[in-house]
Amino acid sequence: MKLCMIGTGYVGLVSGVCFADLGNEVICVDKDLNKINSLKKGKVPIYEPGLSELAIKNYRNKRLNFSTDLKKSVKDSDIIFICVGTPTKKGGSSADLSQIYNVTNEISSSINRFKIIITKSTVPVTTGDEIEKILSRKNNKKKFSVVSNPEFLREGEAIRDFSYPDRIVIGTNDKKAGKIMKNLYSPLISKGASYLQTSRRAAELIKYASNAFLATKITFINEIANLCEKTGINVEDISIGMGLDKRIGSRFLRAGPAYGGSCFPKDTKAIISTADKFKTNLSVVKSVIKSNENRSKILLDRIYRMLNKKIKNKKITFLGVTFKANTDDMRDSSSLKMIPSLSKKGAIIKYFDPTGYKNEFSKLKNVTNKASIKDAVQSADLVILHTEWNDFKSINFKNLAKGKKFIIFDMRNLYSSSKIKQQGFKYYSVGK
Ligand code: UDX
Repeated sequence: MKLCMIGTGYVGLVSGVCFADLGNEVICVDKDLNKINSLKKGKVPIYEPGLSELAIKNYRNKRLNFSTDLKKSVKDSDIIFICVGTPTKKGGSSADLSQIYNVTNEISSSINRFKIIITKSTVPVTTGDEIEKILSRKNNKKKFSVVSNPEFLREGEAIRDFSYPDRIVIGTNDKKAGKIMKNLYSPLISKGASYLQTSRRAAELIKYASNAFLATKITFINEIANLCEKTGINVEDISIGMGLDKRIGSRFLRAGPAYGGSCFPKDTKAIISTADKFKTNLSVVKSVIKSNENRSKILLDRIYRMLNKKIKNKKITFLGVTFKANTDDMRDSSSLKMIPSLSKKGAIIKYFDPTGYKNEFSKLKNVTNKASIKDAVQSADLVILHTEWNDFKSINFKNLAKGKKFIIFDMRNLYSSSKIKQQGFKYYSVGK
């Protein structure tokens, strides 16, 4: 099968590399020439464990290639995946589909034989119908089939998620396209992945509904964590106790800072916007967004109280600033709310992140990046464990502190409270 991935962002690049590794011939297309040239040199522009090695291996054995020539790449391929961004519209909440439709127009003039056109980007319900309309202006409907195949890759775990997915969702009513798609995914189905074929609109909605539900689960446990703090209960016991009920399940019940990243904040807003369009009130998702937006404020209030409401000139260290571990992605990370707010109040902030310096803080007063955990915590009054990197899971605080006792705020519940307290540190965590 000859595959063409349009867009070498997170979705397109990871999927393209993994499809090549499954034995397909894949061409990854992007309009950014610099990006394509770097990829040809083996430089992967995103931080994703294992991706670079897999890209180099498949580029060398010629199953994977990169190009800026969209039209030629489409003509040469049988299956076209649209993997461009669908960010939130500026000043709005719906998804900006301009890149999707630009690409569709280009594909439209390159359909020289039967092709399956797939949306892998997260797109609102009925986008597939629109794509089909655009393509049929220039092409006979027998020459193409528009399919929805949402991705469920988590950053930092994307290769594993691609190789061992819980489910593969294919949205099409077209028998021929369905058969080809099942064949494409057969190496993963034979390893145990569930394969679900639905209508195209249902596949589009499954993606949004899944992300909105996961965001709800996290927000729910974060609110329960607030109650646990007031009642002397450990939220981890609640997560375990709830999670053991198979109807609930234990994953995505970890309390912590506000959820962030490239998907949950954007997709929760977009599903509401779609529902509004169809005059349906998704009141639960609306409350989730509100509660998550308020989460950073709740954690900031706790920080003020820990420092006796005196923030000015307090030395605060952030260990980890990305929205989660194993990624360099800063999109909608809660640190983007907390650090500016503390800096504005006069705190002196140092941060260390395993993925290095972050431009997002470059213009803030008294915010500096440090090259190691040791440098970052030196002379700190408060150390905040913001992201759950493995690097932060077994720090010997006693050795690092050299006699000075800073306060530790463990926003990811990485440590045992009694052990840290035994070492003489004031220790706070979430939901305990
Ligand atoms: C998500 C979806 O999981 C994935 O299926 C989708 O296709 C893309 O969006 P991702 O954004 O990479 O993936 O990260 P994820 O691991 O889902 O975490 C999202 C946010 O939720 C992070 O801020 C994370 O810290 C937070 N989270 C997750 C919690 O606070 N608690 C949890 O128990 C799990």
